[in-house]
Amino acid sequence: MKVDLIIKNAKELLSLKGSAKPRVGSEMDELSIIENGAIAILNGKIIAVDFAENILQKYNSAKQIDASNKVVMPGFVDSHTHPIFAKTRENEFEMRIKGKSYVDISQSGGGIRSSIKFVREATFDQLYEIALKNVKKIISNGTTTIEAKSGYGLSTESEIKMLKVIQKLSTNLPIDVIPTFLGAHEFPTEFKENRIEYIRILKEEMLPKIAELNLAKYCDIFTEAHVYTVEQSRDILQTAKKFGFKLRMHADEIEPIGGAELAAEVGAISADHLGATSNDGIEAMRKSGVIATLLPGTIFSLGMQSYARARDMIAKNLPVALATDFNPGSCNCDSMQFVITLACLQMKMTVAEAITASTINGAHALQMAEKTGSLEIGKQADILILDMPSYRYLPYHFGSNNVETVLKNGQIIWENKI
Ligand code: NIG
Ligand code: FE
Repeated sequence: MKVDLIIKNAKELLSLKGSAKPRVGSEMDELSIIENGAIAILNGKIIAVDFAENILQKYNSAKQIDASNKVVMPGFVDSHTHPIFAKTRENEFEMRIKGKSYVDISQSGGGIRSSIKFVREATFDQLYEIALKNVKKIISNGTTTIEAKSGYGLSTESEIKMLKVIQKLSTNLPIDVIPTFLGAHEFPTEFKENRIEYIRILKEEMLPKIAELNLAKYCDIFTEAHVYTVEQSRDILQTAKKFGFKLRMHADEIEPIGGAELAAEVGAISADHLGATSNDGIEAMRKSGVIATLLPGTIFSLGMQSYARARDMIAKNLPVALATDFNPGSCNCDSMQFVITLACLQMKMTVAEAITASTINGAHALQMAEKTGSLEIGKQADILILDMPSYRYLPYHFGSNNVETVLKNGQIIWENKI
């Protein structure tokens, strides 16, 4: 049978074939590797994955990629990013080195609020050009699906401006870009002393308008002691649900205030950060099927020591995903490869667990697992070719881009060949 493309002779083909549900416990350590593997692709979809000799017997194609001595794996799914901003905040990175904390900086006018000022001043086109560059860098590091949040506008008008930038990225870039409304990222300066009024605007103006314009699939919130309390978060998330948004949360990043428990209560698809989550939080999430998305790049960049308890979560059968949290403040990291290195070194995840968390479980965290996240028949041909002897090399060779070729829907969208 004639196909559009064959990728053949992969030294290790990490198919990630397995359960259709989020991977838990020992499933996370199973990559379903085919040695000397190949993939046949037709109309952007995977139609066969097998040993190279079997594929080459059944299929032929004028276009073939020889992946001899290389690793072939699913494209990364980065399920938590903030790539729309007007100005970077490297000054805060230096302030943190000199001893200021993230919360100190935020309370003295820096942090998310400073990003809000610049996003409000920027034009749509300025924001789009910066975001386009950001996402291209993310793609060059092997990511083929991202979630992208608003959250630096915090007025109806500027949140819509951000979401329209995300929409344009989704139209113009070859990867899947999943939009999230994060109007509850902070309280803007003008409502610092009148938080109740901002929450009213969020519920009565922003959520209905954004739902009407169909600009976001998810609603997210920053639930933390210095921003949205658990009660305020419950109120906002329940309202968002009524307008048809699926939910995700920034939960228990710094203090265990019950964010994970709330994610379970409101049926969030994913709760993210979880650096300080309690045992009760882990159990509540497991029971209600919330994915734990861990963001070790943020802990690293904030110079903190308290990484999320990935080992306990995996032991308790909570599905774990990894994401970059790419943003101009707490984590200016666009590489899932570096996140995998941190997950292995700082959270003691095995290399295989970290890869599962960065592909198929990330896809589940975005409800995209039927389409991407593993190399299985019927899924989009979202594929990476890495110039390395074994998948184990991935976190070991850090601070460098190991991805040689990025394919999305069966098309080469990026090459980093030296
Ligand atoms: O996920 N935690 C809240 N939001 C972002 C930080 C955004 C910023 O500092 O600009 C995060 O870390
Ligand atoms: Fe974030």
